[in-house]
Amino acid sequence: MLDAMNRKVFVTHELPGRRIHELSAYCAVNVWLGPGLLPAASLREELTGCEGLVCLLTDRIDRELLDAMPDLQFVSSMSAGVDHVDVAALTARGIPLGHTPGVLTDTTADTAFALLLAAARRITEADHFVRRGEWRRENRWSPDFFTGKDVSGATLGVIGLGDIGQAMARRAAAFGMEVVGWNRSPKDIPGVEQLSLEALLARSDFVSVHLALTADTRGLLGAAEIAAMKPGAVLVNTARGGIVDEPALAAALASGALYAAGVDVFAEEPVPTGNPLLALPNVVLAPHIGSATTRTRARMADIAAANAIAALQGQPMPHCVNPEVYAR
Ligand code: DGY
Repeated sequence: MLDAMNRKVFVTHELPGRRIHELSAYCAVNVWLGPGLLPAASLREELTGCEGLVCLLTDRIDRELLDAMPDLQFVSSMSAGVDHVDVAALTARGIPLGHTPGVLTDTTADTAFALLLAAARRITEADHFVRRGEWRRENRWSPDFFTGKDVSGATLGVIGLGDIGQAMARRAAAFGMEVVGWNRSPKDIPGVEQLSLEALLARSDFVSVHLALTADTRGLLGAAEIAAMKPGAVLVNTARGGIVDEPALAAALASGALYAAGVDVFAEEPVPTGNPLLALPNVVLAPHIGSATTRTRARMADIAAANAIAALQGQPMPHCVNPEVYAR
């Protein structure tokens, strides 16, 4: 094994959790300390000569970068999703890619359900109304004052029945919802009636997206699919922005074809101020905070560190996206 000081690993952000500090037993660790997120040019510069990279979902790891890094032997991303990484290019080089699934399941489902409830019951609109001083004696209360949409008794359609989709289904069942689901490869989940995507969209009062962004899922909910949703339905997306056609969603919300939406993820992040969703009162917005609790982020960082440590020890990563690299 090489002397620790001759081995270099670059970490693109300070990470929470405890395990990241263990890396220095195996290698020289260079951590980007900011300010702000790492610019792409700095990633290229700092990664040169490194054996390993620990990165975030904001770091783009593409073929061009990889081609410039002949020494790179592993990548560990502190994220469950890996759409920021060219996985095929890594696999072709035999480089394992670590990610952090599992620990963010409940936290992300909580965010999705919070957006669902907030969109259904107009919580953001109501909050703004009170803050703006518009709640006055003459409109203090009336039978149709801030009426929303009932969740209990309604049907939730879960698109993508992985761990987070199933956790969302459990929450919905506990709130008295009927749950239907669609998955690319059919899955038998107790309490979740399996439907075609078309049937799910036509039947669901609420639709929640829980898919990875891949070439197959990009644009899955396009203008035709959004038009096929039940009139007055609510769409929640905590997965990835590229899965939903944002202009088509905004048009459906503006026309009243859809009742509301809860959106945590966008095709472009941070979301540009001109995005039409930002102008609509019936959209609850969040800045990609699905997994954002202190505990979950520390757990994600610990898994990212564990993947990197395994790679430094010459072992398979415990959470590897492309384990086929070990079969060579
Ligand atoms: C992930 O890890 O992919 C999530 O989007 C982070 O919230």
